[in-house]
Amino acid sequence: MKNFTSVHDVPSIDELVIKALSYKTTPFIDKSLGAGKRIGLLFLNPSMRTRLSTQIAAQNLGMEPIVFNVGQEGWALEFEDEAIMSGSTVEHVKDAAPIMGNYFDILAIRTFPSLKNREDDYSELYIKQFIKYAGIPVVSLESATLHPLQSLTDIITITESLKKKPLPAGKKPKIVLTWAPHVKPLPQCVANSFSQWVNAWGQADFVITHPEDYELDEQFTKGATITHNQDEALKDADFVYVKNWSTFKDYGKIYTNDPEWMLTNKKLAVTNNAKVMHCLPVRRNVELSDEILDGLNSIVTQEASNRVWAAQAVLSEILESLK
Ligand code: CP
Repeated sequence: MKNFTSVHDVPSIDELVIKALSYKTTPFIDKSLGAGKRIGLLFLNPSMRTRLSTQIAAQNLGMEPIVFNVGQEGWALEFEDEAIMSGSTVEHVKDAAPIMGNYFDILAIRTFPSLKNREDDYSELYIKQFIKYAGIPVVSLESATLHPLQSLTDIITITESLKKKPLPAGKKPKIVLTWAPHVKPLPQCVANSFSQWVNAWGQADFVITHPEDYELDEQFTKGATITHNQDEALKDADFVYVKNWSTFKDYGKIYTNDPEWMLTNKKLAVTNNAKVMHCLPVRRNVELSDEILDGLNSIVTQEASNRVWAAQAVLSEILESLK
């Protein structure tokens, strides 16, 4: 694996999941793999889980991680080719990225979308410019449209849960991605990415439910059953993935904040005692109720903990390719 920006960079999801779960059992088995290597973690936006889990993963592999909060502490970067830089940007990615390519062996970047211009955001210009100019492998820590480390974690967590409590032979798990209310317009990244990975994984009966006009980009959801009837979608679900996203078509808007879409124990009653997932951070009693988050069905802490093993599996694959 050279870069890790989407499921398309992964030759085998199952093999990557096996590797991640083996690191969970023996975290330091490949401590020498990254010896003498450095990873730069560039954050243009805030983070807790991604920042900490990727640092821990790198250290487990013997790498030295260096975090740079570009968004707060760095020069304002320009990403457009041939830009006349007479505005607020100070340094072009064309100049900054090759320097980082000399400082580091792997570069990992978080770049959220603007939610102002769909075409710009969905072109993934920022991460593509880093790939173009850094000259070293690039890992997405969440880009304008996707969050692949989160989605790999989610498949790992589902696989782990199914191993602990298997379904009847031959039965595919029913996984439901449900929209939830939120007070701010959020990116579609997590929902896009989760859809892309579950579809590529191909081992689930996958249903997406959301209010009218919250359709995601079809390139990620194609293959899933899509419905506006949340109660119907939840029937017999084995896993319910809760996430808010803003509108895709009329880009970056909030059309509704209907609290009826928030998952409660009453809604969960029609599921197959489903495990409830969320990438976090979560707005309690807006996106997800206390009773769910504090209840036995929630696996959000296990899910967030698994971020380490997902990152470690990905970094180890990239380190192997550098040998
Ligand atoms: N889920 C996730 O990416 O969390 P952070 O934004 O805290 O990194």
